[in-house]
Order: sequence, then structure tokens, then C-alpha cells
Amino acid sequence: MARKHLISFISALSIVLASVSCVQSQVFHIPSTIQDGTAQAQFTSCETGLDAPKVRPINESAFDWWYYDVASADPSDLSSVVVTFFTSSQPAFPFLDPADTVTIANLWVLFPNGTLWAAAADGDGATVIADGKTSSGMWLGMGFSWTSHHSSGYHIEINVLDVDVTGTITFPPVRAGQNLEVGPHVGWVNTIPDAAAVVSLNIGGTLLAFAGTGYHNKNWSDQVFAAHVASWYWGHGRVGPYSIVWFDFLDKTGTESVSAYVAKDGKIVAASCTLGSITVRPTGQNATYPPVLSTPNPTGYHIAIDLGEEGTLAVDVTVLTTLITVNPEYARSIGNVSGTLMPASGAPTMGLTGMALFMTVLWFQGPSPNF
Ligand SMILES: *[C@@H]1O[C@H](CO)[C@@H](O)[C@H](O)[C@H]1NC(C)=O
Ligand SMILES: *[C@@H]1O[C@H](CO)[C@@H](O)[C@H](O)[C@H]1NC(C)=O
Ligand SMILES: *[C@@H]1O[C@H](CO)[C@@H](O)[C@H](O)[C@H]1NC(C)=O
Ligand SMILES: *[C@@H]1O[C@H](CO)[C@@H](O)[C@H](O)[C@H]1NC(C)=O
Ligand SMILES: *[C@@H]1O[C@H](CO)[C@@H](O)[C@H](O)[C@H]1NC(C)=O
Repeated sequence: MARKHLISFISALSIVLASVSCVQSQVFHIPSTIQDGTAQAQFTSCETGLDAPKVRPINESAFDWWYYDVASADPSDLSSVVVTFFTSSQPAFPFLDPADTVTIANLWVLFPNGTLWAAAADGDGATVIADGKTSSGMWLGMGFSWTSHHSSGYHIEINVLDVDVTGTITFPPVRAGQNLEVGPHVGWVNTIPDAAAVVSLNIGGTLLAFAGTGYHNKNWSDQVFAAHVASWYWGHGRVGPYSIVWFDFLDKTGTESVSAYVAKDGKIVAASCTLGSITVRPTGQNATYPPVLSTPNPTGYHIAIDLGEEGTLAVDVTVLTTLITVNPEYARSIGNVSGTLMPASGAPTMGLTGMALFMTVLWFQGPSPNF
């Protein structure tokens, strides 16, 4: 099925299914061990249960995870934080370290000077309560939890005594984003595309406190990640007055899927999954597209986004430092951004600047697919 048709099929289906497949409020207990049987994944759009577990049970090929990050908006301050809450089997999601539990939480931190610090915790299961558009999650026996409320936003609490980290990350309330399935069998909810978030963590006696650009989403699948993904470029950031989220994905057959989100002064000016609405291409020495495993991770990206009547936003991203890397398959980095808005007529607006947090995944088993 062509991508376009698949997406419209899914949106049509979601309207029909919304009332039956989405729960109003529910408590989910997720056991720490891999479950037998078939996993039911929800790829339809749901106004309620936006942040609920989306695949149940977690069998050996299922992954489901909640992702939060905050990056400083100031290029001279590298402060950033990534927090992930997984209910995923390690075979399903190849970038997880082997663990005897599916309930894993991770924290990655960059201090202002770019020094990296990371911790992971394995636990005894998780409890997620999804109540309309809000949720809370507790990863049991680990000291990682979040709560959310429509009037107060998201509040992540970290209290991991054995690695000596305590503190909070707070996101203000935002309107719900879009729900979508980005590629067959990979779902993606862009719950918080851009929010003014506040980080206050005490890491071994060193305080990391900053305000920055926060992002939250979740993604999931009932199929192992490696089964569908060939390359994956994702990121979010700010450039001048624009908040952007980009996503450009190639599946194993060489079919490209994209998603673009752009807001200006808090108003959405572009939100599209239509091919051509955005292109994200690697830059740097020997960068090629489609990418191949024999070249190193890109040192930057060139992104072009169609803003409709506003014109085209051309964005360049340069990697400043990397939070996580498995070269060449995986990198999550922060970088500085510059942009130009090219209106349909009239002079371009140049010199837009900002910061972004982004990642690259190349996942080929064996030789690169023959695109
Ligand atoms: C998990 O469930 C999915 C979806 O039903 C199924 O395709 C897959 O084969 C199951 N995995 C295992 C290891 O049983
Ligand atoms: C960077 O900052 C961290 C946290 O304050 C500190 O522990 C580390 O020594 C600093 N590194 C350098 C090279 O200054
Ligand atoms: C899930 O989302 C995060 C953040 O957007 C991204 O880094 C990651 O690649 C996504 N992974 C999957 C498997 O969907
Ligand atoms: C780019 O390709 C050239 C020629 O193959 C090679 O010498 C060089 O090391 C490559 N650069 C990187 C960064 O991989
Ligand atoms: C990022 O900053 C470096 C150093 O100031 C600069 O050379 C580079 O052009 C900047 N990149 C972008 C995309 O703005």
C-alpha cells in the first residue's frame, strides 16, 4: 500500500475506532518479564489515552517507550538531559543493553561544558495510569517516575540513590500534538513538540539547573525495530522564531516517510506527513543519501521544510557534541542551527539561529539494502 494511502487509511480508521479502542482512564501494570503470546499494538489516533501504553503485552518483539528531553537554547551552553522510560524487550530494540527486565529507565545528561554523565536502572515492572490526555508512570524499584496534569504539565521525578542523582524536570502544559504512525508498524506520538522546560538535578553533589527547549513523545511497535527501519533522522529545535520537529525515515524497501512540524510564536505553521513537505539529508565529509554504513555518522544535516504561504525554511544543523553514539549505527547529539526563510516572493530572511537535539539511526543487518 502506498504511503499516502496508508496514512489516509489510518486516519479514516482512527475516526471509526476512536470510540471503541481508546480508553478514558485506565491503570496498566506492566510486568518486568517478557510475556508470551501476541502483542496488540495500537496505531490509530486517540484523543484519549494519548500517553498510554500502546502495545500490550510486551512480547519478545515488542517495544514501547516514553521519551523526554530538554536542551539549552543557548549555543554557548551545552546543558541537556534525555530521560527514557522503556517497556521493551532487548531483542526488539537493538540499542538497549541486555537486561533481564523489560522495564528500564535511562538518564543522559550533558553539563554546560559538554561533560557527559549517564545512568540506567532496571526494575520490577511499571505502573502507568492514563487518564484522558494526561498520564503518570512509575518504574518500580528504580526511582524514576512522571506525572502529568492538564493544568500543570509534566513533572518527572528522579531519585536514584545508588548513583546519587535526585531532582526534577518540569514541562508546562501544552496542547496535544498529532498522533501518527510514521512507518508501517512504527508509531509515534508527538505529545510535546516544544515547551519551555526547567531542569533541576543534583548529580553526585553537582547541580545541573537550566531552562531550555523540552520535548516529549512516545513510540512503540509490535515488531522488532530492525525489521522495518533502514535509516531514521529525527530531531527538534528552534531556529529564529520557529520551533521545528523533523523526521525522515527510510524503510527496508527504500520507501521514505516524513513528518514535519513547525510552529511560530506558538502557532502551528506546518504539520505534515506528506512526502516532499520536508527533506532531511546528512551533511559532512562523505555524507551520502541514502546513507551507507561505511561512512561515519553525519556531522550535520540540511533540512528543507515547506511552510506553505510562508515559503520554505532552509535549515542547517551542525553537531556540537554527542550524548550517545554507537558509530555508525546510532547517534544522539546536540548542535547549533542556522536557517533562512525563503518566501514565495520577496527577499529571504537570513541569519536565523538556534539549537537542536537530534538523532540518526542506520539499521541494516548485513549489507545495506539495495535502494
Ligand atoms: C509478538 O506479537 C506480534 C504481534 O502480534 C507478533 O507478530 C510477534 O510474532 C510476537 N512475537 C513473539 C516473539 O511471539
Ligand atoms: C565539566 O563540568 C562538570 C560538572 O560541573 C565537572 O565535573 C567537570 O570537571 C567539568 N569538566 C571540565 C573539563 O571542566
Ligand atoms: C522514538 O522517539 C525518539 C524521540 O523522538 C527517537 O529518538 C527514537 O528514534 C524513536 N524510536 C523509535 C524506535 O520509534
Ligand atoms: C572520506 O573518504 C575518503 C576517501 O575514501 C577517506 O580517505 C576519508 O577518510 C573519508 N572521511 C571520513 C571522515 O570518513
Ligand atoms: C555552529 O557553530 C560553529 C562555531 O561557531 C559555526 O562554525 C557553524 O557554522 C555553526 N553552524 C550552524 C549550522 O549554524
